[in-house]
Amino acid sequence: MTASDLIARLDAERGAADEAIRAARSAAEVEELDRRFLGKASVAASVKEQIKGLDTADRPGVGKALNEFRTAVEALLQGERERRAGGDGDRLGSERIDVTLPGRGPTRGHLHLVTQVQRELEDLFVGFGYRVAEGPEVETDWNNFGALNIPEAHPARSMWDTLYVRLGEPEQVLLRTHTSPMQIRVMQAQEPPVYIVMPGRCYRKETLDARHSPMFHQIEGLVVDRGITFGDLAGTIEAFTEAYFGAGHHARLRPSYFPFTEPSAEFEVTCIFCEGSGCGTCSQSGWIELGGCGMVDPNVFTAVGYDPEEWSGFAFGFGLERMAMIRFGIDHIKTFYENDVRFLSQF
Ligand code: PHE
Repeated sequence: MTASDLIARLDAERGAADEAIRAARSAAEVEELDRRFLGKASVAASVKEQIKGLDTADRPGVGKALNEFRTAVEALLQGERERRAGGDGDRLGSERIDVTLPGRGPTRGHLHLVTQVQRELEDLFVGFGYRVAEGPEVETDWNNFGALNIPEAHPARSMWDTLYVRLGEPEQVLLRTHTSPMQIRVMQAQEPPVYIVMPGRCYRKETLDARHSPMFHQIEGLVVDRGITFGDLAGTIEAFTEAYFGAGHHARLRPSYFPFTEPSAEFEVTCIFCEGSGCGTCSQSGWIELGGCGMVDPNVFTAVGYDPEEWSGFAFGFGLERMAMIRFGIDHIKTFYENDVRFLSQF
């Protein structure tokens, strides 16, 4: 073959290589084409052999063409390899499983609504200068009734349907029916003046209905000082109502009876459902009852060894569930204790 024949063969081979490499369907095929166009049995190898038989003057031209062919085909092969690597990279990208997604771990819990209400009220009263105390849920008959001016067999006992504990003398140990026995414990433990709130669980032998549960929470307040009047009680209740329910909500006191306070009152707040205009929830009165209060009865002071001539004071007690129900529009007390997360997670 002449030099120009060899160069023409290389040109034709280059066109074929170009086409074949671009059409390659797999990485293995690319390597196969490498052998076909540059290997021992390739056109390029045969041209290289034939250069030796050419005139010395013709050799450089064919040699140069052969080099150009090799460089071009190698570039094509390399380009194809890189494209495939990139393609695989794309596939890796699209098939990748993102393990950095946040897992579905246990959701973090929070304080129960009753606890939240309790803490908020404690904070509020601490802001008024009160202390906070807690006491036992199992009480003596004396603390729960006797010292609170409710002697045995007194008809006022029927105000609290009591659950007794089988311990000691019959009917002497009980589950406290209100937080008022804490008044006794606190006054027996310290001298006046007293400014204190006492939250906690209470129990009554009661059938569950929308507003009553055999177990519930109260917060008791007790103030004992010189010259405390009913005006102080009314003002405290009004201040607390506004602070807890928001401005525009008012408290009112209505004459009532409790053996351990004289005079006694029930306190009510503007109904949040109708804002005071009257609705089904508040029996059209515009008010909802929250708890009881009054001036500490002198007999209670005497029972704990305080001098009723020197000291006067007031006490109040109300239900925490009631407070939450009124504030958040909850219509059944049982929802507090069903542990339904759909309810609990709202607060
Ligand atoms: N202990 C009373 C009750 O449970 C409420 C109350 C507390 C009334 C303090 C007056 C003073 O019904």
